[in-house]
Amino acid sequence: MHVLVIGSGLAGLFAAVRATDAGHSVTLVTKGALAESNTAYAQGGIAAALFPDDSADAHLLDTLSAGDGLCDIDAARVLVDEGPARVRDLIRFGVAFDGDESGSGLARGLEAAHRRARVLHAGGDATGFAIEHALIATVRHRAAVVHEHTMLVDLLTDADGVVGALVQGSAGPTASAPPAAAAVSRWEIRADAVILATGGAGQLFRHTTNPAVATGDGAAAAWRAGARMADLEFLQFHPTALAVPGTPLVSEAVRGEGAVLLDAHGERFMLDAHPLAELAPRDVVARAIAVEMAAQGGEPVLLDATALGRDVLETRFPTITAACRAAGYDWAVQPVPVSPAAHYWMGGVATDTWGRTSLAGLYAIGEVACTGVHGANRLASNSLLEAAVFADRAVRDLAAAAVVAGDGAGRRGTSESDASLPTDLVGASDRDSSLSSTDSGLRLSIQAVLWEHAGVLRSGDGLRHARAALAALPRPDTEAVCDASVLEDANLLDLARLIVAAALAREESRGAHFRSDYPVANPHLAVRTPLREESLAC
Ligand code: FAD
Ligand code: SIN
Repeated sequence: MHVLVIGSGLAGLFAAVRATDAGHSVTLVTKGALAESNTAYAQGGIAAALFPDDSADAHLLDTLSAGDGLCDIDAARVLVDEGPARVRDLIRFGVAFDGDESGSGLARGLEAAHRRARVLHAGGDATGFAIEHALIATVRHRAAVVHEHTMLVDLLTDADGVVGALVQGSAGPTASAPPAAAAVSRWEIRADAVILATGGAGQLFRHTTNPAVATGDGAAAAWRAGARMADLEFLQFHPTALAVPGTPLVSEAVRGEGAVLLDAHGERFMLDAHPLAELAPRDVVARAIAVEMAAQGGEPVLLDATALGRDVLETRFPTITAACRAAGYDWAVQPVPVSPAAHYWMGGVATDTWGRTSLAGLYAIGEVACTGVHGANRLASNSLLEAAVFADRAVRDLAAAAVVAGDGAGRRGTSESDASLPTDLVGASDRDSSLSSTDSGLRLSIQAVLWEHAGVLRSGDGLRHARAALAALPRPDTEAVCDASVLEDANLLDLARLIVAAALAREESRGAHFRSDYPVANPHLAVRTPLREESLAC
């Protein structure tokens, strides 16, 4: 079976490894360099019930409790049950998780809303980097065909479902370098199954912890292809991004080690906000900070980690220490300014527990998917785990699909599978193109509207204003070859409109979705929101 994997974060790389090991022919395309992904920036770690004082049941309870009544319990059960085996797979693939002080076992961190310390980390706070690079090395030893700097434009469909993807890159399917001054072309890649692993969409917001590649391209393409989406209104804002240009993350693990949040008067405001104080669920802490910031004229709050001491800060959190230093702070001796930033999208392409979407031939895994494991608010460090668990399951399902097809050629029984040659060059052009120019007026407008009106604190009036503002923005023409940034802007606009429509429709507050006009949860609305029939016209 020929499998097309789109995206090279943990989800895509894990799926590519598994699929080649299962004997499939694999093509992997990714928008930038292989390592560029949200995965590579993950700090805190990966949660799994691996220790004797822990259990899958305890992990499940924490996941459901953070999810605020909206988790898909079957999916969450799969996550916690299969998580430990997938973490062991990562170790086999070469991820060197940090050891504990005795040197005999694995170190484990505590993060918000976990009742046990169960978060494995690597390189102190460079867990994602370690995972990404171990998986890249693993993929390099497999026979997968890899196309970097090759961007999904749209999914190809026929009457049976998804049959491949239209992609764009420099000079066709052999590209391995950025298309800075090269000709950009489009071509089709046909496949028996497409695994979408394009990650999240933090770039929808003015302030985000996500890198530039997180523009929601896969989710937007799946929507346009007719896939069912779910829970789009649920976006997670990380409470503590450093309040400096570039918005570097300050991991929740820092609060797990004992750091506290202070207002402008040096007072710990989380003590009054939640019994778990700084270790309350992420949505609670982000909201409390937003309220505090509003009360102090928009000034960021302070994160005081000085009690941890320089040695701990520098050895356990080298990445954050460097980010603080680059911003002019010595966090061993002074509190640092932090504020919430868009971090993770719980919603996305709706899937079942095998990564199957509503379209035959299309799987979605990792952050682009909405498996329902996170409900209305993701538990810290469950995202890397979800990516590995459901990548594995999607590939296992491919085998079942091949058996069903009876000829080893996939669920549609097609024989089109040659990705090494352009099957159809669409709109080839000799124009110069840069992969990403992320400061277009359109993008800044989308980011400003969402940050102001669909961010940590929302209201009906604000969302209606956002709906009108987004409706007035012109969608760029993407029919012919165009700059990658133009494609991204169109995707961001499609998604922004969908998110605002979904946020308006949910007349309650739950998890990361807070509306001042409906400030409490409505038990009748404790259901996931499938989105398909709603129109984009908002
Ligand atoms: P990604 O890792 O984002 O990969 C998506 C891939 O798709 C990228 O390679 C991208 O280039 C590619 N792509 C995108 N669009 C296209 C396109 N049009 N065509 C082709 N390719 C495309 N989670 C945890 O569990 N623990 C943590 O400690 C943690 N820390 C985090 C810290 C930061 C700063 C951030 C931003 C996130 C963190 N998260 C953490 C969340 C977690 O990293 C992500 O949710 C997870 O890595 C998503 O993996 P993924 O493979 O689905 O997507
Ligand atoms: C963090 O380290 O705080 C991020 C963890 C996560 O997003 O799960």
